[in-house]
Amino acid sequence: MAKPIHAFLGVDVGTSAVKAVVVGVDGRMLGEARFEQVVDSPRPAWTEQHPDIWWQSSRAAISSAMETARLEGHTIELRGVGLTGQMHSAVFLDSAGQVIRPAPLWSDARTAPQCREITDKLGQSGLHDTVGNLALEGFTAPKILWLRQSEPANYARLKHVMLAKDYVRYRLTGELATDPSDAAGTLLFDVRRRRWSREVAEALEISVDLLPEVVGSTDVSGIVGAGAAEGLGIPASTPIVGGAADNAAGAVGSGVVEVGRVLSSIGTSGTLLAPIDRVRVDDRMRLHTFCHCVPDMWYLMGVILSAGNSLRWLRNILLPSGGDDAYTTLTSEAATVPPGAEGLLFLPYLTGERTPHNDPSARGAFSGLHLGHTRADLVRAVMEGVCFAMHDSLELVRELHGPVPEIRAIGGGSRSDLWLQLQADIYSVPVVTVGPGSGPAYGAAALAAVGTGAFGSIAEATDAWLHIERTIEPNPERVRVYDDIYGAFKELYPAIKPTFSRKT
Ligand code: XUL
Repeated sequence: MAKPIHAFLGVDVGTSAVKAVVVGVDGRMLGEARFEQVVDSPRPAWTEQHPDIWWQSSRAAISSAMETARLEGHTIELRGVGLTGQMHSAVFLDSAGQVIRPAPLWSDARTAPQCREITDKLGQSGLHDTVGNLALEGFTAPKILWLRQSEPANYARLKHVMLAKDYVRYRLTGELATDPSDAAGTLLFDVRRRRWSREVAEALEISVDLLPEVVGSTDVSGIVGAGAAEGLGIPASTPIVGGAADNAAGAVGSGVVEVGRVLSSIGTSGTLLAPIDRVRVDDRMRLHTFCHCVPDMWYLMGVILSAGNSLRWLRNILLPSGGDDAYTTLTSEAATVPPGAEGLLFLPYLTGERTPHNDPSARGAFSGLHLGHTRADLVRAVMEGVCFAMHDSLELVRELHGPVPEIRAIGGGSRSDLWLQLQADIYSVPVVTVGPGSGPAYGAAALAAVGTGAFGSIAEATDAWLHIERTIEPNPERVRVYDDIYGAFKELYPAIKPTFSRKT
């Protein structure tokens, strides 16, 4: 019989899919699987998913990733599990551990009144000095206030609030726990002291008893229960570490665990993330400041709400039955179009926008359409518009953090040549991809490897596991063209902003 390989499971409870990877102790990808999920939008500006869908998708992804690893002929000895997932989305449980209602997601914009209330109560400076972030619609605390005000009967049952990955942990282990990087996105966490902020909780009249214990990202927080292990293909009693928010775990998965490295993630959302080793909160909180999952590190991050999701929206309209092949068809057509998409600009604010406008009522727009525009031009304009919006965050990172010599790309935006070249040309820096994994699930597996003793630190694990795969250099001619077009992009939002508040 083949010698068993020590391996680690990483699970990413994402928005469009749950992904699971099985990674060998040498960093090799032994098995992977993903299960697609839909986002419900029962009312305009609402986005929701039922936590039980996450659990079902996680079960399917875990058993299928383990099965793939075995079909490849590996005998797996699973040493640990790491969880990661979408940030901010609020799971509400009652005293029997039952889900009270579907979880409002990070992209949900229903809580504008609650955000105003929080800002009135704490003031910008109060927010700055405690939770280190603006009160934004997607964050968790305003969702708790919304539940109290809009669904009092549900609120009366509320016993526990948790985040997406922590619900999967709860189903796997029965434990209620989170980690500093996910806690930081609730607006109830003191990012400097890395503990729940009693001051903010009291001001908002939210009991801290609702919140889970915070454990370190590489600390073992529990073990897989016998009931949960059944049918998953993993042994009961496998240790589970604290894990991390998807952006923090994505940073681990791509080696963005030291100051000077910068991550660009184009998934459903788009994020530009720069680690810092001393907590730094911008006076105007234009970028988020969250805790990294690396001890004593934080990161500055800009977020656009519809990155890959803008392309998904267009694909669904242009080639509804094309599946993933449709992306290949559309992006290879778009690659033949010159920079600037024949004069077409796109604002990717389909679900409102965070960085830099913090405007939940912002909406998407095409500008400059003419009769000659083709499907390929529309696709190129959407991809360029996403990169321009990411560039807004990059400008803030450069201003607050300093020069950015190179960017590591992950997510859907790292799996297409066109996305990569557009990023290099629009950001005007070399863009690199790393392997053999790179996404949040791979990063979560690395956290499990550290937490169960295979490595002494997160940096040691990423040094051992990751290597640079490709470097995409910016093209000087296209950089100049895009610099001009970016000027026009920046003028578009203020010019059409008044039309977003139109009621009819
Ligand atoms: C970050 C954010 C998104 C989600 C997506 O603040 O809201 O990137 O984490 O999963």
